[in-house]
Amino acid sequence: MAATTLALALPLLLLSLSSLVNSLSPNYYDQSCPKAESTITSVVQKAMTNDRTVPAALLRMHFHDCFIRGCDGSVLLNSTSKNQAEKDGPPNISLHAFYVIDVAKTALEAMCPGVVSCADIVAMAAKDAVALSGGPNWKVPNGRKDGRISLASDTRQLPAPTLNFSQLQQNFAQRGLSMDDLVALSGGHTLGFAHCSSFQQRIHNFTTQTDVDPSLQVSFAASLRKACPYNNKVNAAGATLDSTTVIFDNVYYKSLLQGMSVLATDQALLSVPRTQALVSKFANSLTDFEDAFVKSMIKMSSLPGGVEVRRNCRVVN
Ligand code: HEM
Ligand SMILES: *[C@@H]1O[C@H](CO)[C@@H](O)[C@H](O)[C@H]1NC(C)=O
Ligand SMILES: *[C@@H]1O[C@H](CO)[C@@H](O)[C@H](O)[C@H]1NC(C)=O
Ligand SMILES: *[C@@H]1O[C@H](CO)[C@@H](O)[C@H](O)[C@H]1NC(C)=O
Ligand SMILES: *[C@@H]1O[C@H](CO)[C@@H](O)[C@H](O)[C@H]1NC(C)=O
Repeated sequence: MAATTLALALPLLLLSLSSLVNSLSPNYYDQSCPKAESTITSVVQKAMTNDRTVPAALLRMHFHDCFIRGCDGSVLLNSTSKNQAEKDGPPNISLHAFYVIDVAKTALEAMCPGVVSCADIVAMAAKDAVALSGGPNWKVPNGRKDGRISLASDTRQLPAPTLNFSQLQQNFAQRGLSMDDLVALSGGHTLGFAHCSSFQQRIHNFTTQTDVDPSLQVSFAASLRKACPYNNKVNAAGATLDSTTVIFDNVYYKSLLQGMSVLATDQALLSVPRTQALVSKFANSLTDFEDAFVKSMIKMSSLPGGVEVRRNCRVVN
């Protein structure tokens, strides 16, 4: 009896200890760098007026950072002569706007040297990306540390757009993220763009009459095929992930319900009743989506990792 109780209690104890050790705080920079947050916001705001694709890039950057070795800025490290870094791994397609993090880091180093981690800058920039695109705003818990390891081979751990529902669920569960987190965080696809290669398998060489994934609405499938013909040679070709690509809204979920999903993994959210119900809930209520998104973002962005505060986000100290 006692042994059973202990066996049950021990993992819980370890879990709460590790979350204590890695505890983040929304007031982390209040004394050490009070202007950190507002400085990053101005940098993101300025960058996005010059390039409307910046918010999507920053949001995806944070996701990729957190899903490999925790949110530790590993996505920012440059390759070296001895090491191929994450950003040069195969699923790096469309990762961009690293310069925005550099601009923020340079400003923060001038203001409070050696204080604000690159991982925290990415987390705050992702929040700004959402808020400045018309989405919710929130206080980002801070205090992440930057890692010293970045391996191109690790990008295999990122969920591929060809995963089925159970694989997606498993990929998220490995990081302590639930099915509900999966549905809410997939709403990040309310921003941005996908290249043809990310959904090619849905629109060519199906053995159905129309040669496309039968879950796609006919005219939408036709538009994807037009943008991405078989043997497409245009590297930049693709489709926006929803029809309001620079606005953070719930059109992504509405589109899913209409057979207008771009990625097979977006479509997969409709494959079990629980997640299908959440998609409908978020399609019907922007507030419900925003509340769930913020909760799940804070969860994802608290995945621990890292050991130092880098001086330059692209190189280890
Ligand atoms: C559920 C698993 C996920 C898969 C399989 C996935 C896959 C992808 C793929 C294949 C692309 C297009 C890349 C390209 O072709 O250029 C993409 C774009 C994007 N993803 Fe995800 N993603 C997932 C989750 C997330 C999460 C959790 C977020 C953030 C909360 C996110 C944010 C984005 C954004 C913003 C873009 C657009 C990037 C841009 O336009 O620069 N994704 N994703
Ligand atoms: C990192 O790589 C980029 C792109 O290759 C390059 O422009 C930049 O100078 C590099 N930065 C450092 C600090 O090595
Ligand atoms: C992506 O990786 C390839 C090598 O696999 C590299 O040539 C390219 O520069 C990388 N893209 C970015 C944005 O880092
Ligand atoms: C998902 O893919 C895995 C690996 O290919 C496979 O074993 C599993 O049966 C698939 N699950 C469903 C529900 O299709
Ligand atoms: C795939 O589809 C293209 C165009 O629809 C066709 O030309 C090609 O023969 C097909 N390939 C296979 C292996 O079915």
